[in-house]
Amino acid sequence: MTKPTDGTTLLSDHVDARPVTTTDEVTAGRNDIVQLDPDHPGFRDAQYRARRNQIAQLGMNYRPGDPIPDAPYTDDEHRVWQTIWKALRPAHQRHACAQYLEALQRMNFADERIPQLREVNEKVQAISGFRLEPVAGLVQPRVFLENLADGVFLCTQYIRHHSTPLYTPEPDVVHEIVGHGVTLACPELAELNRLFGKAVKRASTADALETLSRVYWFTIEFGVLREDGQLKAYGTGLLSSAGELEEMRQAELRPLDILAITRQNYDPTHFQPVLFCAESFAAMHEQLRAYLVVS
Ligand SMILES: [Fe+2]
Repeated sequence: MTKPTDGTTLLSDHVDARPVTTTDEVTAGRNDIVQLDPDHPGFRDAQYRARRNQIAQLGMNYRPGDPIPDAPYTDDEHRVWQTIWKALRPAHQRHACAQYLEALQRMNFADERIPQLREVNEKVQAISGFRLEPVAGLVQPRVFLENLADGVFLCTQYIRHHSTPLYTPEPDVVHEIVGHGVTLACPELAELNRLFGKAVKRASTADALETLSRVYWFTIEFGVLREDGQLKAYGTGLLSSAGELEEMRQAELRPLDILAITRQNYDPTHFQPVLFCAESFAAMHEQLRAYLVVS
């Protein structure tokens, strides 16, 4: 993983890095223990590693249908959220698409504390029927994507290391809630997530899964569109990172073309140099929907 030198945020994600070993029939494919890479910001911090394991345990213990457990965040962790949220709020106003901003307003996140998954889930479920369920953080791409078909979004609850509040090498609670949680409170984006899940369930080969993962990456995670002539983000990886939002204007913009996306490689450890831009939110929804229902 490459850490940026300018204090901005990068993000790797569900579709590339969530290996897992199974433990029992109920949690099969959903959870594993926390392992940090040697270059992870928290690798040498025994206290952080203990926190990660403690919060991962909530996901490990969770059974579908249970009430979602609150994570006992510390004051230090809430301070990390405050730093992130202070950077993200104005960035959203400048760079987020209207549908995202509307959904964000419904979430009404507090400035001073990390929103609990339970609270976000209540609002998302009432709007789109999607359920956010906690996991330890390590989920195979197929498991993660197939759950979308059933309206289940598997969420991590830990927050990134305090030494790098604007950088995370893996999806943390900020990405899950500010990115996916909010977009799943937008009915059109929730529908697309479900369709991705259904397409992945039909995909029987590794190549077909890879293709769908790639389309998910360049749309749901890093999609941009035109709104009144302005470039706006609808992708969760962009919307959960002030650094990515600022940087998206430096990317090479290509027209949203699903076939081109399926041929485009990506590196989750750097800012995205190529983004695919839809002509509008409606055009994006229509194009993706048409592709997913026949995939
Ligand atoms: Fe994501």
